[in-house]
Amino acid sequence: MEKTFLMVKPDGVQRNLIGEIVSRFEKKGFQLVGAKLMVIPQELAQEHYGEHKERPFFGELVDFITSGPVFAMVWQGENVISTARQMMGSTNPKDAATGTIRGDFGLTVGKNIIHGSDSPTSAEREIGLFFNEGVTEYTKLVN
Ligand code: CMP
Repeated sequence: MEKTFLMVKPDGVQRNLIGEIVSRFEKKGFQLVGAKLMVIPQELAQEHYGEHKERPFFGELVDFITSGPVFAMVWQGENVISTARQMMGSTNPKDAATGTIRGDFGLTVGKNIIHGSDSPTSAEREIGLFFNEGVTEYTKLVN
């Protein structure tokens, strides 16, 4: 069964949107198969966003994603990768349709509430980065 990596970003956690977001994917029919609240270490953030290394906003992106706890999740289900992307809405919340997570809760492209893998290749890579034997140290209490 297909799996994807989804993450409520620091702005979503701070605004108490974890429950709302989890609820949407549950109600859609997907199954939560992994989840943890964690503060992302600098090196993991740089690795996760490696494809954006040359972008002018890379520093800002890494600073933001490491600025507070995130809620990292793995979800499973039929076509979960593309369906979750549809449910998230466009990357820039100003272009995201009402009814999508970013359309309903986001305002700016930097603080856009949620991240989701964009392809099977990135899902496999991102699940491997966040959920494997070696990452138990990221699961300690965030406060
Ligand atoms: P995400 O899906 O997590 O993947 C890359 C992120 O880069 C994206 O969501 C946005 O939050 C962020 N991003 C894209 N464009 C910009 C920008 N111009 N300034 C700041 N962040 C950006």
